[in-house]
Amino acid sequence: MRNVVGILLDRKTYLGIQSKQTGYEQIDLYNQAAEKLGIHPFYMCLQHTSGNSVLGLCFENKRYRLIRLPIPKVIHNRAMSLSPLLHRNLNLLASSSRVFNRRNRYDKLFIHKLLHTKESLRIHLPTTLAYSRKHMLEAMGRFSDFFVKPTNSSLGEGIIKLSKQDHETWRLFWSNHQPRVVSRDKALAFIQEKVGNQCYLIQQAIMLATYRNRPYDLRVSVQRGDKGIWQVSGIAGKVAAHNRQVTNLGKGGEAKRCEELFRESGFQPDLMKEAIDKVSLRIAEYLGKRLPEMADVGLDVGVDLLGHIWLIEVNGRDQRYEFKKLNMEDTFYRTYETPLVYAKYLLNK
Ligand SMILES: Nc1ncnc2c1ncn2[C@@H]1O[C@H](COP(=O)(O)OP(=O)(O)OP(=O)(O)O)[C@@H](O)[C@H]1O
Ligand SMILES: [Mg+2]
Repeated sequence: MRNVVGILLDRKTYLGIQSKQTGYEQIDLYNQAAEKLGIHPFYMCLQHTSGNSVLGLCFENKRYRLIRLPIPKVIHNRAMSLSPLLHRNLNLLASSSRVFNRRNRYDKLFIHKLLHTKESLRIHLPTTLAYSRKHMLEAMGRFSDFFVKPTNSSLGEGIIKLSKQDHETWRLFWSNHQPRVVSRDKALAFIQEKVGNQCYLIQQAIMLATYRNRPYDLRVSVQRGDKGIWQVSGIAGKVAAHNRQVTNLGKGGEAKRCEELFRESGFQPDLMKEAIDKVSLRIAEYLGKRLPEMADVGLDVGVDLLGHIWLIEVNGRDQRYEFKKLNMEDTFYRTYETPLVYAKYLLNK
């Protein structure tokens, strides 16, 4: 079979394909895009690879067929939960195939440091420090508001925010609890207990623009497409729930069209979108140079009250669901098609 593109999924997603229980992964859209592009999608998971072949599901003539195929030359990785054994299988696959987004989980501090080496991007990076008692004291001296966050993906979990109340006390925001006003030492002790021996970072808080008094940020999908060129596939807004400091949809955040948010904050929607496109592209292009297998990222981008653009974090496996929630069907489709356009380019290269 020619023009086969592997789509590597977590096992649970893979097993749900025929019963259409694939969680956030919208397999139909890969099928639709593949048909349009004249390629064959071959769904696979790392549990079913052996030697130089893989048992997987091929979609042809509107039906799935379970077949064993040689390892596809190009594979779009969407799998995330990897045990050491699966990791080994992934590395084996990558030794005979071009697996893009092979790595899709990055330490936030690592990404920050990498971007920080590019001087022209620094104005978009909030000051970020590794968590330590020394850096906590430094942050308390330098910032009136800052976040303490796990350095690996967390879906809004484990995030703490501190806001200076007066020079003796801090307001501490944690999970969905009411904020507490505590002394400096109490704040330090509380945070140290939450951090334990996990890896955390400290980050200057951006005074995010608000929608009806609720802070918002943006999810920007940036992907490689034809000829490997990066493009912005879509922008969606996420508004924090009342009295919350994080916009994650899993934490009560609400998806909103960015145009509506920008208008409400007094920004010109078209100009702001253009500015966000430009910054997001520069970020992705730079990351792509340093991490060549990176081809699909979801940036969390904040705009402050003055309209300055800030990068909050980079997600290596964007779930793209804000677009679905907002019924942005063309955009949602594009986030599935673009990686396959890239895959086709790699196949023919
Ligand atoms: N420095 C910051 N300034 C303002 N808001 C922030 C900052 N850091 C985090 N937030 C808020 O908290 C949310 C979650 O933070 P972040 O995106 O860094 O972690 P996460 O979503 O838990 O990680 P992941 O998306 O990888 O699971 C952001 O979308 C934003 O609303
Ligand atoms: Mg995030």
